[in-house]
Amino acid sequence: MIAHDIPPMDLAGARLYKEKLDRAAQEALVVALRDVVSVAPFFHPETRWGKKMSVRMTSAGRLGWVSDRRGYRYEPHHPTGAEWPAIPDAVLDVWRDVAGTERLPDCCLINYYGDGARMGLHQDRDEGDFSFPVVSISLGDDALFRVGGIERQGPTQSAWLGSGDVLVLDGPSRLAYHGIDRLRFGSSDLLRDHGRINLTLRVVDVPPARETGA
Ligand code: SIN
Ligand code: MN
Repeated sequence: MIAHDIPPMDLAGARLYKEKLDRAAQEALVVALRDVVSVAPFFHPETRWGKKMSVRMTSAGRLGWVSDRRGYRYEPHHPTGAEWPAIPDAVLDVWRDVAGTERLPDCCLINYYGDGARMGLHQDRDEGDFSFPVVSISLGDDALFRVGGIERQGPTQSAWLGSGDVLVLDGPSRLAYHGIDRLRFGSSDLLRDHGRINLTLRVVDVPPARETGA
C-alpha cells in the first residue's frame, strides 16, 4: 500500500515521505524489478574519468541513464544493445502519487548499492527540462542521504533513508546537489543478499542527438 496520509518532511527544500510504501508494496516492487533486471542486467558503470562507480546500475523506460568515458547521458538501449524494459506499473503508481504532473517519467534508473557502495555529491542535470520533479524510492538497507543547494560547496543536510521512503526533488530543490555517504549494510531483510536499491524516476527531454550520445 502507498500511504496517502503522511505529510512530507522538509529536507533542504526536498520533500521526504517517510515510510510511504509498506512492506507489501516494497516486496511487490522487488518482484517487478526482478523481471526488469532479468531483461536488462545490472552493469558496473565508469565515470567519465574512467573510474568504476561503486554502485551497479540499470534502467527501465524509454531511455536509460548511462555513464562511461564518453560522458553521462540518456540512451535508448542497454549496453548489450537491447531496448530497456518498460517501467513497472507499481513504480509508476508512486510517481502518480507524489509527482504532481500528468506527464509520466521517461526513465527509471535502478541503482544497486552493495556493502561499501556510495554516491558522491552531484546534480541531476542531463534531462533537458528541469520543470519536472525527480522522484526517488528507497528499498532495502538504510542509507545516509545528503542534500544541499545548487552550489557544490554550500551547506548540506543529511537524513537516513529507509526502505519504503520516497524523496522528491522539485521546484528550487530540483537541481540540488545530493548523494549517498554510506549504507548500514544488512540493516534490512527486504533484499535476499541485503544491500539497497534506489529507483530514480525522471522526465527526459533532450534533443535526439544527445540520446545517441553524439
Ligand atoms: C542518485 O542520486 O542517483 C541516487 C540517490 C540515492 O541512491 O538515494
Ligand atoms: Mn542523483
